[in-house]
Amino acid sequence: MRSFYEDIKRFFRALNFSGKSEGLRFFFMSLMFLSVFSSVLTVIQPFLYMELIDSIVGDSGSRLSLSTESIIFIYGTCFIIARVADELWKAVFTDFTLSAQRQLADKAFDHIIRLPSAFFLGKEKHTLPSIISKARYGVHEIISVSLETIIPVTLEFLLVSLIIYILFPGTVLTILIISVVIFVFVAIWGSEKIRPWQRKFTEENNKTHQVLGEILSSEEAVKSFNMEDCFKGKYLAHMTAFEKYCTKFFRWSAFIGSMQMLSVGGALIPMLLISFKLLDSGAITLGAFVMINVLTIQLIMPLRRLAFAYRQVKEGAVDIEQLDNVLSIPIETDRVGGADKNIESESLSISFKNVYFSYMNDDKYVLKDVSFTIPHGKTYAFVGASGAGKSTISRLIMRYYDISEGGIILGDKNLESFSRDAVRRSVGIVSQDVVLFNDTLRFNLDFGQELSDQKLMESLKSVGLDDFVKSLENGLNTVVGDRGMKLSGGQRQRIGIARAVLKEPKIMIFDEATSSLDMHTEKTVSKNINAVSREKTTIIIAHRLSTIMNADKILVLDQGKVVSSGTHDELISSCEIYKKLYKTEDVSKETATPCVEGVHIPAPPGA
Ligand SMILES: Nc1ncnc2c1ncn2[C@@H]1O[C@H](COP(=O)(O)OP(=O)(O)OP(=O)(O)O)[C@@H](O)[C@H]1O
Ligand SMILES: [Mg+2]
Repeated sequence: MRSFYEDIKRFFRALNFSGKSEGLRFFFMSLMFLSVFSSVLTVIQPFLYMELIDSIVGDSGSRLSLSTESIIFIYGTCFIIARVADELWKAVFTDFTLSAQRQLADKAFDHIIRLPSAFFLGKEKHTLPSIISKARYGVHEIISVSLETIIPVTLEFLLVSLIIYILFPGTVLTILIISVVIFVFVAIWGSEKIRPWQRKFTEENNKTHQVLGEILSSEEAVKSFNMEDCFKGKYLAHMTAFEKYCTKFFRWSAFIGSMQMLSVGGALIPMLLISFKLLDSGAITLGAFVMINVLTIQLIMPLRRLAFAYRQVKEGAVDIEQLDNVLSIPIETDRVGGADKNIESESLSISFKNVYFSYMNDDKYVLKDVSFTIPHGKTYAFVGASGAGKSTISRLIMRYYDISEGGIILGDKNLESFSRDAVRRSVGIVSQDVVLFNDTLRFNLDFGQELSDQKLMESLKSVGLDDFVKSLENGLNTVVGDRGMKLSGGQRQRIGIARAVLKEPKIMIFDEATSSLDMHTEKTVSKNINAVSREKTTIIIAHRLSTIMNADKILVLDQGKVVSSGTHDELISSCEIYKKLYKTEDVSKETATPCVEGVHIPAPPGA
C-alpha cells in the first residue's frame, strides 16, 4: 500500500500541487465536497427504499414515522440531488483536470527546454512527445479515479457497514468485511503482479515512437542507404514485444478481475441466506431484506470500479513516473546566488584560460589546456582538421556545456557569472548545420520580433538572397518545410547568417557558415560578414582558408590544443599544420577542372 501512496504523492509532486496552485486547491476542495455529498445520498437511498417498502406493506418495523407519500418525496428528492451533484461534479472535474493537465504540460515544457544539450544527443528525446501525452492522460486517470471512485467508494463502504452493523447481526457484517478484505488484497497483489508487464509494454511503445521519430527526421538518409527494411525490422521488433507484454498484461488483468468478483459475489449468497432466515423468523422486515440485497449489489459495482481504479492509478503512475524521470534530470542552472541577467559591458573580449573540456565529464578531453584572448572588436579565426575541437569552442561560449577546468572570461567577468540567457542573447551564431523551423521565411529571420519587411529584405540582400525571395510566390511568407528542407543547403546557410545579423549581437560566431556556397557567392557573403562583424568580437571557423585570410589572427587547433597562432603570412612560414592545410586546399584548387559542362569556375582568391 505504501507504494500506492508513493504513486499518489509523486503525482501531486509532479503537479506541484502545493504553493502557488490556489485555483487548483479550490477546485479540489469543491470536488471533494461534491463527492462526499453524493456518496452520502447514494447510501441513504436504499435505506429510504427499505422504509418505503415497510411503509407500503404496513410493516411495524418502519423506523421513520412518516407517511408513505413523505418517504416517496424524500426518496425522490435525494435521488435528484444525488444526480445533480454528480453532474456538478463532472463540470468541476473537467475544469480541475484540464487545469492540472495544463500545469503539468507547462512544467514539463519548461523543464525539457532547459535540459542540458547532452540529453538531446540521446535517443530518449524521441520518446518525449509520447511521454508527455501519456502523462497528461495519466493525470486525467488519477484524478478521475481517485475522486470519482476511491474516496466515494471507501466512504460508501463505511456507511453501508454502519447501517448493516446497526440493523443486522454481526455475522452479516463479518462476511461483508472478509469478502472486501479478500477483494482489496487481490486488487493490490494483482496490480503489483501486472505492473512489470505494463512498464514493459509502455517502454516498447515508447521505442516504437523513437524509431518513427528517427525515420521522420532522417528520411533522406534512410532512403539513401536503403535502410527502410532495417528500420522496419526495428519498428516491428518493438511492436511485437509490445504485443507480447500487452497480451500478458490483459490476460492477467482478466484473471485478477475474476478472482475479485469471486470474492465479493461469493459473499452475496451467505449474506442473503442469513437475511432470508432472519426475515423468515420475523427478526427483520421485508424492507430490510430488500435493502441488504440492494446495498450489497450497490457495493459490488463500486468495488469493481475500485479495483479498476487501483489499476488505473498504477497505470497512470507508470506514465507519470516516466515523466517524473525526465523531470528529475538536472536542468541547466545559472550560478547559485544569482547570475547577471544582462551583459552590461560594451567591450566584450573573450578569453579562454587553460580550458579543459570533455563531453562526458571523463578524462577524454576534447579541449586540452586551451588559452587565447580575442580582444574586443577583433576577428579571430580557428582552423584545424576535422574533430580538432573548433565547434566545441563555440558551444562552450554559448554555454551549451560547462567547462571541466580553467576559465572563460567575457569582458572582465567569468562567463559563468552571466545567466545562460544573457550570454545567448549577446551572441549571434551561425552553426555548422543551420536548422530552420517549419514556418515562414519571415519567422525564421525575425523569430516573432515583427521586424519591417525592409529590414528583413536588407539582411537578405547582404547574403545575396533578396532576388530569390522576391521570386517566390509568397515572398517572405513562404513556408520553408521541415528543418528548412525546401531550401538548398547554401540558401539555408545564408538565411542562418541573415538571422544572426538581424539579432544585432555583440559577439558573432560563424562556424563553417559559407561552406555550402559556391566560390563566387562565398566571396560576396564573406565580404558582408566582414562588414557586419566590424567592431564586433568575431570568431570564424572555416576549412576554406581563403575565407579567413583577413582575420586579425588565426589560431591553429590540433587534437584539442592550440598549436600555433598568428596572421596568415606568419603561419604559412612557421606552422607545419597550417602549411599542410593550405597546401591541401591549394592542390584541390590546382586539380579543379576550370570548366565543367560549360560552367566557369572562377579562380580562387590568391590563386
Ligand atoms: N556531443 C558530443 N559528445 C561527445 N563527443 C563529441 C560531441 N561533439 C563532438 N564530440 C567530439 O569532440 C571532438 C571535437 O568535435 P568538434 O565538433 O569540436 O570538431 P570540429 O573541429 O568542429 O570538427 P569539424 O571541422 O569536423 O566540424 C570530436 O572528436 C568529436 O567526436
Ligand atoms: Mg565543427
